[in-house]
Amino acid sequence: MVWCLANYSTKLLAVSGLGHPFLMSGEGMREGGGGDFHHRPVLLEEALHYLAPGAGRTVVDATLGGAGHTLALLQRGARVIGIERDPEALACVQSNTDLQAYGEAFESRRANFAEIQGVVSDTAPDGVDGILLDLGVSSHQLDTAERGFSLRADGPLDMRMDPGEQLTAAVVVNTWGEADLARIFHELGEEKRSRAVARAIVARRASRPFERTLDLAGCVAGVVGRGGRIHPATRVFQAIRMTVNRELESLQEALEAAPRLLRPGGRLVVISFHSGEDRIVKRFMKRHSAAEIDRPEWPAPRPNPEYEFKLLTKRAVVAREPELAGNPRARSAKLRAAERLGGGGR
Ligand SMILES: C[S@@+](CC[C@H](N)C(=O)[O-])C[C@H]1O[C@@H](n2cnc3c(N)ncnc32)[C@H](O)[C@@H]1O
Repeated sequence: MVWCLANYSTKLLAVSGLGHPFLMSGEGMREGGGGDFHHRPVLLEEALHYLAPGAGRTVVDATLGGAGHTLALLQRGARVIGIERDPEALACVQSNTDLQAYGEAFESRRANFAEIQGVVSDTAPDGVDGILLDLGVSSHQLDTAERGFSLRADGPLDMRMDPGEQLTAAVVVNTWGEADLARIFHELGEEKRSRAVARAIVARRASRPFERTLDLAGCVAGVVGRGGRIHPATRVFQAIRMTVNRELESLQEALEAAPRLLRPGGRLVVISFHSGEDRIVKRFMKRHSAAEIDRPEWPAPRPNPEYEFKLLTKRAVVAREPELAGNPRARSAKLRAAERLGGGGR
């Protein structure tokens, strides 16, 4: 728990401006190096605007992380149910006295947010007024070399948000076929040299399997080449991490559950950092916010049986200049929000 306690410094409390230092952004975070903990919850004001927290409202923060969003929700009088799959992050949050001060207004569960339905049935059987998903990894996960997410600090090839899961980065890198590796690098990493990288990995592992992050990063960099703002292995690491944690699948499952869990007027707010994630969110909200659907073969449009939301954001909301200046990690963040329609008001 050293990382957790180490983050509780006066300086960081001042930097966060929210009384909680373990503030972070999601994917798109590049390791700042030098122990830079100037992380803030991304798109915080925008998330609060759409979640409209207040007394009597219950919000699920399904990606608790360092609880930056959660703390702000509690400060505005909401009850918060936090979900986090990373036991280290959860332990840190649970020992946070700022949060403990809110007593029963805050509770947390270790779970994958794909299981959000079970968590809500247990904690708020009448439904909730808000669901927040702030996707990706935390700075804690990135900055802790032993977790194996880091491109710059050597660690085991792990990358599991939940260490109880079986699949690790080492398994993917050392046992998956070349075509499958190339596919994830292309689809999840948008790596232009996906096939060449997969080929190089398969050739290298034949003589010596990959065990360490820097070894893999070096191999990838040897193919992709240096240059540009980000580390040349960033896209490949992202693809492996998203595969190991089944990130797109979990997102889809949580979204599908949301209409059943939100009370009429309840808000769904999703912050994503990856084009594949944003596409899933956009399609989901579009599919559920159309009153009618039309097909060329139909004589007339028909009512959409999945019409359950009013879209609150026609376009994705992105971070504005003041936030970008203070937190460059917000630059790839996109927020989308939708409101659950009232029972009889469709
Ligand atoms: C970007 S951070 C959230 C930061 C948080 N909003 C804050 O203000 O501190 C994402 C967190 O969600 C967690 N997470 C990611 N996918 C998850 C999933 N499927 N289920 C539960 N937690 C998940 C990660 O472990 C990480 O701690």
